[in-house]
Amino acid sequence: MEKIHSLTGMMDLISENGLESNLANKIFDTEKELIKIFESYSLKEIRTPSLENEQLFNRSVGNSSDIVNKELYTFKDKNEKSISLRPEGTAGVVRAIIEKKLDNDNHRFWYMGSMWRYERPQKGRYRQFYQAGVELLGFPEGLAELEMISMIILINSRLEIKNPKIKINHLGDKNVKDAYCDALKDYLEPISSKLDEKDFDRLNKNPMRVLDSKNPETQKILKNAPKISDFISDDAKSLLNTIKKTYGEDLIEIDSNLVRGLDYYTGFIFEAVSEDLGAQDSYLGGGRYDQLFEDLGGKKLPAIGMAIGIERIADITQKSQEKKTLISFIILSDKIEQKAYKIAHDLRSRNNNLIIEVQLLDSSLKSKLRRANKDNASYAIILGKDEIESDKVLVKSLLDDNSDQRELNVSELEDFVSTL
Ligand code: HAM
Repeated sequence: MEKIHSLTGMMDLISENGLESNLANKIFDTEKELIKIFESYSLKEIRTPSLENEQLFNRSVGNSSDIVNKELYTFKDKNEKSISLRPEGTAGVVRAIIEKKLDNDNHRFWYMGSMWRYERPQKGRYRQFYQAGVELLGFPEGLAELEMISMIILINSRLEIKNPKIKINHLGDKNVKDAYCDALKDYLEPISSKLDEKDFDRLNKNPMRVLDSKNPETQKILKNAPKISDFISDDAKSLLNTIKKTYGEDLIEIDSNLVRGLDYYTGFIFEAVSEDLGAQDSYLGGGRYDQLFEDLGGKKLPAIGMAIGIERIADITQKSQEKKTLISFIILSDKIEQKAYKIAHDLRSRNNNLIIEVQLLDSSLKSKLRRANKDNASYAIILGKDEIESDKVLVKSLLDDNSDQRELNVSELEDFVSTL
């Protein structure tokens, strides 16, 4: 029969015992570590659907963004309704809070899940990828900004990220953003024939996106372009400087060309990058979106958030996997040995740091030990007919080829596993 393949840019994540280099292992461990960090900031979990009305993304992420323009997975459902797989999490969170009439209070949320963007796949860029997101809702500019950066710094240190850099910028409010866009357009339009097709298109749809251009020619042209820093208020400038002073010149860089590819941002924006990632160097990004609640029909609610690309951050974490001792539990019998199985069951409650893998297939001792070694078990606990009858177990260390196996009674076994 012909085999069926996965879709382009969509990965299977399959973890393996004891393999530090396995990306799935790293991803799952990273997710657990991030949740611990989020909880330490008093964030609560929120889960929203993967599918939403297409309109939600048009009105938030925006029609001028690549994400909506080119990358949205949109389908007609059986009722001919246009629905989209979410390309990011913020729009769904804001929709949910408005819909549940919770937009009269403040909230601190985290979420984690798959996002979909129809991009050209390459290292660090997938069509289905995972994000962990944070949204602080109902908090005006100020301390919430410091809280976001503080969280990024804790993430960097807990996940032992090499060479992190945090770029920050301020887009001003809607009026400032509009005035700057006009100035940039006035500067670029007379020389627009020098732009490549992509940048020309950006100039027409959203001039600020030209600042994001990777084309060296465009970057040369931009050297003399108006700077957003000349348009923003003194308060905004002082916020950027306070953040730089608070968290250090080495880590924080004010980058007036930082724009972000989503339309809902106003005010403070940021991205964390690491040169170890290659071309797709940003492992998280976010910013303030004080207008979005109103744009989606809710009350006026200031908000700031960020999302972390899990595959990318897992690729650069240097944190070694949490070590748990794996014990392979071998029962040598062709029938169900309830007494032997109960020992394995009880051992698990003795020590949370243990992994007890009961071998479930009936095979020889030799092949069960081979399996235990393949799974990187530290010990094998073996119960043959004699042991089961005499309430004893054999414990064999697999860490050392020369070690003998020891015979223990059940209470000695419990003492032994408590020490692991
Ligand atoms: P974003 O910058 O579009 O922001 O995505 C955040 C992160 O997701 C990126 O920095 C990157 O690490 C990862 N990412 C994006 N696209 C891909 C892809 N195709 N493959 C792998 N990883 C990817 C947002 O999504 C906003 N919702 C962040 C936010 C939350 N702003 C306010 N609240």
